[in-house]
Amino acid sequence: MNQVEQFENEVRENITCLSNDINLKNLSLRWLSEITPYKYAYNFRSLGRPIIQLPQDMIALQEIIWQVRPDLIVETGIAHGGSLVQSASMLALIDYCEAVELSKTLDLKASRRMVLGIDIDIRAHNRVAIETHPLAHKISMIQGSSITPETISKVYKHAENYGRILVCLDSNHTHDHVLAEMEAYAPLVSVGSYCVVFDTLIEDMADDMFPDRPWGKGNNPKTAVWEYLQRLKDEGRKAKDGKPLKFEYDRMMEHKLLITAAPNGYLKRLNTPQ
Ligand SMILES: C[S@@+](CC[C@H](N)C(=O)[O-])C[C@H]1O[C@@H](n2cnc3c(N)ncnc32)[C@H](O)[C@@H]1O
Repeated sequence: MNQVEQFENEVRENITCLSNDINLKNLSLRWLSEITPYKYAYNFRSLGRPIIQLPQDMIALQEIIWQVRPDLIVETGIAHGGSLVQSASMLALIDYCEAVELSKTLDLKASRRMVLGIDIDIRAHNRVAIETHPLAHKISMIQGSSITPETISKVYKHAENYGRILVCLDSNHTHDHVLAEMEAYAPLVSVGSYCVVFDTLIEDMADDMFPDRPWGKGNNPKTAVWEYLQRLKDEGRKAKDGKPLKFEYDRMMEHKLLITAAPNGYLKRLNTPQ
């Protein structure tokens, strides 16, 4: 075994040990429960824009984008634009690395890699800040509810000529809304890529954690993920590429993060026969 394999084995064993440490899992959940009322996830920025994510999930996304190398990232829920800018920055880095690998000069106009964000309410000051950000050329936005036929058809039109697609869902966190988003956008996810569903953590929080919100225990992104995966099993669904859709939980991601807003939310699309 060479040193690289040895290191990878060590990390895998480390993550397996973490996955078996019930005490540490409970501690992590307790930490998340105690930090959530402080709106901890609002404290961070991505290249200058406020992002509403836990830093651990920002790292997870960075790993996933590098591994998948998508040419289109579809994100519901823009808010201040932090997650759009983070995704755009990763796509720009992939462009840069590809140019280096091919010994080519980086041609900003030639790259098709884009992030497409959807939000029911893109506030004027956020729109200006996103549209004047240096990475704005890698970002497109649609204003509208993510689950209306009009928005869905705009997204599909945009996605028409893209082959490697990643989807992140982070808008309205009710069961029905997320389920409708999964029905609409999970079929866009390409083989080996992900549908990342944020705020599944709501299911694991105390019942009275979000008193001023329509979501809570039993009505949140995690219950939507469970129902959608059950539908895939019972009824089946076709992906945009015509193949049967099948996802698995990326358990290694959950186990290594421990602190995440997306438990059961890192869904990796599997390859299936036609
Ligand atoms: C949690 S924030 C998104 C955070 C962002 N992804 C980030 O990481 O910085 C949720 C956003 O979803 C938007 N939203 C709420 N309902 C929506 C809907 N039906 N369709 C699209 N967006 C919606 C809200 O306007 C809000 O900006």
